Amino acid sequence: MFHVIDPRVFERPLLDELCALATSARLLAKTDAGARALRDLLPTHRAMLYFTQPSTRTFLSFNNACHILGMRTSEIRDPSTSSEVKGESFEDSIRTFSSYVDVIVMRTKESGRAAQAAKLMNGIPRPVPVINAGSGSDQHPTQALLDIYTLQRSFEDFGGIDGKVIGMMGDLKRGRTVRSLCYLMKNYKNVRLVFIAPELFAMEPDVKAYLDQHKIPYTETSRLEDALPTLDAIYVTRMQTEWDTAGESRNIDLSKFSIGAQQLARLKRDAIIMHPLPRGAEIDPTVDQDPRAMYWRQERNGMWMRVAVLIKIFAAENRIAEIAS
Ligand code: CP
Repeated sequence: MFHVIDPRVFERPLLDELCALATSARLLAKTDAGARALRDLLPTHRAMLYFTQPSTRTFLSFNNACHILGMRTSEIRDPSTSSEVKGESFEDSIRTFSSYVDVIVMRTKESGRAAQAAKLMNGIPRPVPVINAGSGSDQHPTQALLDIYTLQRSFEDFGGIDGKVIGMMGDLKRGRTVRSLCYLMKNYKNVRLVFIAPELFAMEPDVKAYLDQHKIPYTETSRLEDALPTLDAIYVTRMQTEWDTAGESRNIDLSKFSIGAQQLARLKRDAIIMHPLPRGAEIDPTVDQDPRAMYWRQERNGMWMRVAVLIKIFAAENRIAEIAS
């Protein structure tokens, strides 16, 4: 594993390995000795966190994942504080980061920027891995990895992810998390997807074509109440208002795409509710008390999955196995 750009390249053995690594690190960190051993894993490595689009949990979870492994971090979150304001090109900025660090984690408003950075790295004498931490409205691969980890943990005693019915609800058109998660579904047997969205924000044809190509069945509906009793998991997303050009999200009746007490009553007893967060009005805060609400655990899983990704990129997985044993 070197760059992490596009979720389509992930195959089941690697997904299983990353989930196992996340669990090993999570369990090790519960003791002082384990936490110290983790901190001794990558103390000579440095990471650049280049987040020019807003982020709370992806930034913080990568930052803390690095620190858990003893890595040091540098960051640029506001491009007005970098030499980009003096006219430095994107390529020269990325190459400069690579002069000082061992990995670049980046989030940008524009699609395709992480892929562009990775391509640049592949052509220079000292390439460093690039991790896509969210690129425009197209992909968010490490979110999809942590979502898989959350699904796997939640269904550990129920046959795993295979055979599950997974609903995805909200702004599916512009939500990069659901797009990336759809791509990973090719790795699981007999999964069925149910897209629940207003017509204007339905899942894009390119993702549906990918699902068709991989023979992953999906249905589309705008009737949440009908879909709810059939689901093993519902992945709720917010309206991505930041991509509105003329306030188009404002015309949506969000109450039809939200979870509250009424919807909880229709959901299976052992189903789970996920959300990449941040949330808007689509999940009532009272739902947080319900044992099926998995989104806060999902958020924390993100840190352990990002620890696993860094361990794998820097080929430290054998040392984790040694420490754990
Ligand atoms: N899920 C997610 O990407 O959250 P942030 O935008 O806060 O990083």
